[in-house]
Amino acid sequence: MADKAKVAIFISGRGSNMAALLYASLLPDSTYEVCLVAANDPDAEGLTLASAEGVPTFALSHKGRTRADHDAAMEAAAKEAGAQYIVLAGYMRILSPEFVSRWQGRMLNIHPSLLPKYPGLDTHARAIEAGDSHGGVSVHLVTEELDAGEVLGSLPVAIRAGETADSLAERVRFAEHQLYPRVLSDYVSRGSDPGYLLEKVRALALSLPEAHERESHGSPGWRAGSEKSGKYFAYFNDQHHGSEHIALLVKTGSMDELLDLVEAQPHAYFKPAYYGASGWIGVILNRPGIDWDHVAEWLERSWRSVAPARLAKLINAAEDF
Ligand code: GAR
Repeated sequence: MADKAKVAIFISGRGSNMAALLYASLLPDSTYEVCLVAANDPDAEGLTLASAEGVPTFALSHKGRTRADHDAAMEAAAKEAGAQYIVLAGYMRILSPEFVSRWQGRMLNIHPSLLPKYPGLDTHARAIEAGDSHGGVSVHLVTEELDAGEVLGSLPVAIRAGETADSLAERVRFAEHQLYPRVLSDYVSRGSDPGYLLEKVRALALSLPEAHERESHGSPGWRAGSEKSGKYFAYFNDQHHGSEHIALLVKTGSMDELLDLVEAQPHAYFKPAYYGASGWIGVILNRPGIDWDHVAEWLERSWRSVAPARLAKLINAAEDF
């Protein structure tokens, strides 16, 4: 199994979500480990629990510090602990835009409503007041706008007759403790999840003009041109022919180019069985730091090499526009 992702959890209070995340991380198949629990309140209850479980902690009050300074100190502690992700669990601080942008795509938050409904505070009271049938919880990526980043998962919780904000909050918390570890675990491991990688490649391949998908020898493939006479420009391979790679196969310009790339960047490219002989290169997708813009460039280049001239003109015209 790949190395576990290291996550720092930021809390402000009780830390029950932190505890759920921490204990889930101790299960044998967890994809992440908790390298730090940090709080903006040195008296946060959750810190004691984390210490008792042997997890390093960090606490720094935000009082008397600028937002930027406090964020920087929290961030420094996370980095020092080796965190690859920051997970907010009841961290009741607005973060500076600079901090948020440095962790874009690597910072998650849990929010007690079914987003996009009820960002901000008093979520349960607002759901009850509105007569909603359900409250709930969402886990989302953190962006500059409050509670507005991509929702990675959510769970509805029924609102009963006579419900109060407190009684609903209590039940929502059970749901939170189930949802957060699952979503975090899936999120940090999606770079090695063939289903996720295939969806990314498929979206890019099908965004090219007159591209369509057709299976080839059991693998998804994409062709340029008509259904009748189109030609393949890409294949998706999930650990084919004994390879450990999940890869995109695209056409290089020549065998020399293929061999040079494989030699210079063996972490990124390989020569696939069978296809390699006719100039197809394997672009390795299940690796840290994969650059999707680069994958898109390969797809476009490969598409151009097989697309009928009339279609290539379309793309050139779009670029000139
Ligand atoms: C949780 O209910 C979480 O959804 C909420 O704070 C609580 C923290 O509880 N977060 C927010 O309201 C964020 N805007 P915990 O400290 O026991 O995990």
